[in-house]
Amino acid sequence: MRAAQFSRFGGPEVLNIVDLPEPRPGPGQVRIVVHAAGINATEWKLRSGELSFGAGLPQTTGRDVAGVVDELGEGVTDVAVGDRVFGVSDDGAGAAERTLVTHRAPIPPSLGFVDAAGLPIALETATRALDQLGVSGGSTLFVNGASGGIGSTAVQLAVARGARVIGAASAANRNYLSQLGAEPVTYGDGMVEQVRALAPAGVDVALDVAGSGVLPQLIDLAGDPKNVVTLADLEGSDKYDVHFSNGFVDGHGFHALAEIGELIETGRFWLPVDRTFPLDEIATAHRVSEHGHVRGRIVLVLG
Ligand SMILES: NC(=O)c1ccc[n+]([C@@H]2O[C@H](COP(=O)([O-])OP(=O)(O)OC[C@H]3O[C@@H](n4cnc5c(N)ncnc54)[C@H](OP(=O)(O)O)[C@@H]3O)[C@@H](O)[C@H]2O)c1
Repeated sequence: MRAAQFSRFGGPEVLNIVDLPEPRPGPGQVRIVVHAAGINATEWKLRSGELSFGAGLPQTTGRDVAGVVDELGEGVTDVAVGDRVFGVSDDGAGAAERTLVTHRAPIPPSLGFVDAAGLPIALETATRALDQLGVSGGSTLFVNGASGGIGSTAVQLAVARGARVIGAASAANRNYLSQLGAEPVTYGDGMVEQVRALAPAGVDVALDVAGSGVLPQLIDLAGDPKNVVTLADLEGSDKYDVHFSNGFVDGHGFHALAEIGELIETGRFWLPVDRTFPLDEIATAHRVSEHGHVRGRIVLVLG
């Protein structure tokens, strides 16, 4: 089967399409024929070596997937061969014609494979972070980096919980943030003042998705480091005593995959696909993601 792989860490040029044996599912796993695979910021960080989940080289890439189940591992009863599912590739090997998936859910009926492929990591991560911040009805939440995959997801899930959300993105994304249900502000100089103009007493909690070095500003707005969670600023989390949310340590929020259907089918959740690329153009897809201004998600289309 065709799969995207790298055998050394580096720029997008280290990605190659190779021929690999098809994987076989173990207990609890299903194998899916991958129709679409999402690209998120973690993919290029793993490829560049900036981030490691402990996998060696060569490494197949890609975690978010959507496709059709074609083989069941021992003990699997929740899905059947032929079902449409979305989930997270177990070995981070989702940019491939087939992959193994433990954490999965049926694709909501109104979604195609491309839309579903952008969702799993964003749903898991945003749900975990909102739970850690205790976001619920009546909370006021500030999201720094509200227009990317995880940010767009966090905004809408928080609004669905009944929270008031203020989100920061570039000026070009102000209308987009309003569509998601957030009150928009523009990141950069004056961001704190813009938030205070909307919420003079500050916010209850703040989520840093962008990792853009603004934790002191978020602490100022939320009143205390314990009211702030970052998903991307490891250095700042140590320096300012802010919790860095890490699914491997904190526990994952995979239950969000099975729960999102109702919000999607009632028109209360939508994660736009900014661009699609064929598998052969994965290096270009990584370049676009790495540039840092994707609205929603980028998705590879395999078939
Ligand atoms: N800790 C965890 O468990 C975990 C899990 C998954 C991912 N992550 C991390 O979470 C981060 C976000 O991932 P993602 O896939 O959602 O990224 P993404 O979709 O690539 O994010 C792109 C967005 O970032 C925004 N942005 C760029 N510069 C910004 C700035 N200075 N201030 C605020 N927003 C800015 C852009 O907005 P504009 O276009 O409007 O500029 C764009 O919409 C990554 O660092 C990723 O590694 C962490």
